[in-house]
Amino acid sequence: MADKPRVFSGIQPTGRKTLGNYSGGFRQYVQTQDAGDAFFCIVDLHSITVEYDPADLRSSTLDLAATLFATGLDAERSTVFCQSHVTAHAEAAWLLSAVASYGQLGRMTQFKEKSDRHDFVSAGLFTYPVLMAGDILLYQTDLVPIGDDQRQHLELARDIAERFNFRYGETFRVPDGQFPSVGGRIMDLQDPTSKMSTTLSSEQGAIYMNDPPDAIRKKFKSAVTDSGREVRYDPAEKPGVSNLLEIMSVATGEPIDALAKRFASAGYGDLKEAVGESVVELLTPIQERFKQLRADERALQHLLAMGAEKARRASEPTLEQMYERMGFAKPEAGRHFGAARPRGL
Ligand code: TYM
Repeated sequence: MADKPRVFSGIQPTGRKTLGNYSGGFRQYVQTQDAGDAFFCIVDLHSITVEYDPADLRSSTLDLAATLFATGLDAERSTVFCQSHVTAHAEAAWLLSAVASYGQLGRMTQFKEKSDRHDFVSAGLFTYPVLMAGDILLYQTDLVPIGDDQRQHLELARDIAERFNFRYGETFRVPDGQFPSVGGRIMDLQDPTSKMSTTLSSEQGAIYMNDPPDAIRKKFKSAVTDSGREVRYDPAEKPGVSNLLEIMSVATGEPIDALAKRFASAGYGDLKEAVGESVVELLTPIQERFKQLRADERALQHLLAMGAEKARRASEPTLEQMYERMGFAKPEAGRHFGAARPRGL
């Protein structure tokens, strides 16, 4: 490992971003940007694997870029870029599909869940984790900050790296996941046994990053709690209360133990109100920064263009090695790796 670990993570531009994304995603990105040489990718190619509106993709891409910077990423320290701007990602996905196992892809929980819910199941939804493996492996990544729901996909990326290294010679670093110790799986406020999700949660069950303060307070007020009256951290027995304590810990940075102690003799109502307030305090300044950043599209596009340039340079050598190790004839004049395309987003 180099002195500074290489950090890589990705997040989809479609769908409204939730407090879950904040906890497992944005928050961890900011924490890791100084730990290493960090790349954060807006994975627009992943977003087309389920039904989406092409007319929205461009603006949701810019929304996500603004959110990444509003939550604290710094374009000087981190490389923030858009997956479709670096063609190595699509190429790597195809090359790696030769070493990904059909059986293993079929066992991916996320594929099974999503394919159950759609009449039309795209081939892309099935090969989605191969594209994700390519994202990670192209950058010789050491650490992948993600939430709990991406654990299985990361395992698959590790398997693919190991199989490729075995078949074609040592090429990839085998990455490790970095999961938050608290808030790795934020649960739905109306159904605390299911994950808070962009696609599955109801309006009341999810807190969105752009929810106004009153909506946030209301949602917490009507959050489902558990039987009994005692505030205690016990996810098996008390999923609702435990989720609230986790959310408050994520929002304030205070340890769960301390919060559980403080609210031990309080009622559920007091806890809900305090959690709601802590989330309003967390999200309000982010929403203000978002507004400012989102207003200047040219600046966002410029930052993404800079990021893409850095990402192209960083991924090129690995893609080149993949082609070589796999035995492809070299093109005479060299390969043109995703040469900067003169188009807008
Ligand atoms: P995505 O866009 O669904 O989610 C982005 C990040 O948010 C985390 N997350 C949560 N964490 C805690 N509690 C929740 N309820 C919750 N919901 C979402 C996710 O774990 C994720 O870290 N396949 C990925 C995107 C991806 C990627 C990659 C990630 C593509 N390539 C390479 C890492 C490395 C996804 O759909 O994340």
